[in-house]
Amino acid sequence: MKRETVVVLDFGGQYNQLIARRVRECNVYCEIYSYKTDFEKIKALQPKGVIFTGGPNSCYEPGAPTYTKEIFELGVPILGICYGSQLMMHLLGGKVEKAPVREYGKIEVTTDHTSDLFADVSEKTICWMSHNDYISEMAPGFRTIAYTDNCPYAAMENTEKKLYATQFHPEVLHTQEGQKMLSNFVFRVCGCAGDWKMDSFVEQSIHHIREKVGDGKVLCALSGGVDSSVAAVLLSKAVGNQLTCVFVDHGLLRKNEGDEVEAVFGPDGPYDLNFIRVNAQERFYSKLAGVTEPEKKRKIIGEEFIRVFEEEAKKIGAVDFLVQGTIYPDVVESGVGGESTVIKSHHNVGGLPDYVDFKEIIEPLRDLFKDEVRKAGLELGIPDYLVFRQPFPGPGLGIRIIGDITPEKVQMVQDADAIWREEIAAAGWDKKVNQYFAALTNMQSVGVMGDERTYDYAIALRAVTTTDFMTAESAEVPWEIIGRTTSRIVNEVKHINRVLYDCTGKPPATIEFE
Ligand code: XMP
Repeated sequence: MKRETVVVLDFGGQYNQLIARRVRECNVYCEIYSYKTDFEKIKALQPKGVIFTGGPNSCYEPGAPTYTKEIFELGVPILGICYGSQLMMHLLGGKVEKAPVREYGKIEVTTDHTSDLFADVSEKTICWMSHNDYISEMAPGFRTIAYTDNCPYAAMENTEKKLYATQFHPEVLHTQEGQKMLSNFVFRVCGCAGDWKMDSFVEQSIHHIREKVGDGKVLCALSGGVDSSVAAVLLSKAVGNQLTCVFVDHGLLRKNEGDEVEAVFGPDGPYDLNFIRVNAQERFYSKLAGVTEPEKKRKIIGEEFIRVFEEEAKKIGAVDFLVQGTIYPDVVESGVGGESTVIKSHHNVGGLPDYVDFKEIIEPLRDLFKDEVRKAGLELGIPDYLVFRQPFPGPGLGIRIIGDITPEKVQMVQDADAIWREEIAAAGWDKKVNQYFAALTNMQSVGVMGDERTYDYAIALRAVTTTDFMTAESAEVPWEIIGRTTSRIVNEVKHINRVLYDCTGKPPATIEFE
């Protein structure tokens, strides 16, 4: 059965992934393609609708991203957003110019609710604008369906050709009724059924994996993180005993994490994963001894991980398939799908395929966003605390210890981090912040404990709020929680005599403290 799909055509905007996520929140499957994608390819997808994203360019400048006008003749509904709306007007005979007044921020827009796009949307509604250019003349056949004080054409439609355009960004949360508008587009305009649901995803994946794997042997690197856990359980449901999972404990996991992962996925847990735990702590510590440069640490940890995994794989012998927990944002960020600039690429999986003897890769989560991976995890019966884990970097605490790494420092940061997590959770703040952890600064300073002078380390506490992990704010965690955590850490963790709170956002800092 052909999957109902909406295509996001990416013109380099920052919010392209967000558009796709919002569409998927309507239970409609959505994929992102660069504007460089061949028209025939887009046509072959038989999309139910197309959305043109925003982008940083001026559509009237030579060399600006554009698309063939043929797309407007497909008869498929199209929604242009910001740059996408300007490009639509520009290509169809309207006029786009530098705006006399740049609009930026939350702006009240007056909408015409007789348009399908604004059905059940308030007449006056707050929308997010960010544009230097504006549409000074609509293309023939369009009528205006929204305006602001400075923007006569904040939204337009040509119902006959099923073309819609908004100068503002319905996909960002600042646009208060944006989700309603996108849902109007996919259901009322495109006529989608909304049948993209996680229970059917799980069922269909199991079916496809069984078909693909046959009686082949499958190998999976399990980290205990959400993605690899969901991938492993999905594979196990599909092919049972043919799957072997290798869990490498590099000694840089959070407190008790290795045992927790083993308790769920090991032989005493509910799954049949042929779970192999490799306790490689010593190997990693000795490779890391004396190394202080963060990128070098990352490299060493990544390479050593591959070595360990390779050795285990050799013991198992040749396998037919290697499972990877790649998810959709990885695919888009690696430049396969979309167009926007890569801000930072992460590399948990890089390298493995070259080192292990296998025939093919299986990436069962390749089409899913993180929240969908979580839903699939719940569908598969994976415990909540694993499914809703906060992100944890592949190199682990190795990049949360400034300066050289020693087993003693690992323990300090593990203990302090466990206390911070406990206190945050006890106060219900685990739901209010998106990531929180402790990092060991390399700073030692004078303190006094009892009557003794100390010369010990400072630990830094970090908690951030973020939606996309590309930018973040330092969270205003109440002083009470920080205070309680501070006393516990200095009392309970040896060699720490100072606790600092990191007030920096990203940018200019990063979320990790490395
Ligand atoms: P930064 O520090 O770049 O982190 O602001 C952004 C998010 O990415 C996580 N992170 C990683 N995740 N492998 C991962 O899977 C890595 O090497 C890695 N480095 C950082 C970080 O925890 C935050 O959520």
